[in-house]
Amino acid sequence: MRRKIVAGNWKLNTTLQEGIKLASSVNDLVAKGLPENVDVIVAPPFTHLAGIKKVLTEKIGLAAQNCAAEPSGALTGEVSASMIRSAGAEYVIIGHSERRIYFNESDLEVAGKVKLALENDLKPIFCCGEKLHEREKLIYTEVIKKQLEYGLFDLDEEKLKNVIIAYEPVWAIGTGKNATSEQAQEMHQYIRHLVEEKYSTRTAEEQVILYGGSCKPSNAPELFANKDVDGGLIGGASLSAKDFYGIINSF
Ligand code: PGA
Repeated sequence: MRRKIVAGNWKLNTTLQEGIKLASSVNDLVAKGLPENVDVIVAPPFTHLAGIKKVLTEKIGLAAQNCAAEPSGALTGEVSASMIRSAGAEYVIIGHSERRIYFNESDLEVAGKVKLALENDLKPIFCCGEKLHEREKLIYTEVIKKQLEYGLFDLDEEKLKNVIIAYEPVWAIGTGKNATSEQAQEMHQYIRHLVEEKYSTRTAEEQVILYGGSCKPSNAPELFANKDVDGGLIGGASLSAKDFYGIINSF
C-alpha cells in the first residue's frame, strides 16, 4: 500500500519565531494522533530549517522549498542541496510553478536540481501542472507529459522511487479554485499511467502523487478519496496548524 503524504509549503511566509511557533503547534496536534499510513512534512523557508529541525518530532519530515541548480561555487544568494541536507531536511520541493514562472526555471534546470537533490540524499517533491490557458486549450495532458519527460524521466527506476510527484494545476494555486475531484483523479491516473509506460506497473503502483492547489479541510476529503490521489501539497492552509491538521485528518 502506498504511503499517504500531506506536505505544507509555507512559501515566503513567517519569521523564524513565527515559523517555530507554527511548527510547534503542528507538532502538538500531530502528537494527538495521525491517521494510519500518513506522513506529514513541513517546508519552511531556508532560514528556518535548522531551527525548526530542533523542534520537530520524528513524526514530521522537513523539506526545503527549492535548491540551487549547482552543487557549489560563486552563486551569491543560492542554497545548495548539500546545505539543505546538512540543515536536517529530508525533502526538497523542486519545480514549483512559482519557481518556473517567476524565476524562469526551465525543465532542464529542474531536472538538474532533481539529480542534485538525490545525490545529496534528499527526496525531491517534484511539481508539475498546467496553466489556465493550457487547460482551456485542452493541451494539459501534453504539458504534464513534457514536464515529466524532461524533468524526471531521465532518472533510472531505483532513483525514481525516492521522488514524490505533486500535480498542481497553476490555475488552482492560491486562487481558492481547486481542481474538482474528477479533474484531480483524471490527471493523477494519467501521471501514474505515464510512470507505468516509462518504467513498470510496480513502480507506477508505488509512486506517490500529491495534489496541490487551494486544498483545504473542506475539500480535502473528496480529493483524497480518489484512488490515485495520495495526499496533498498545501500552501495557504498549511499556515494554520488547525487547518493543516484538518487536512491531514481528511484520510
Ligand atoms: P495553495 O498552494 O494551497 O495556497 O493553493 C499550493 C502550492 O502552491 O503548493
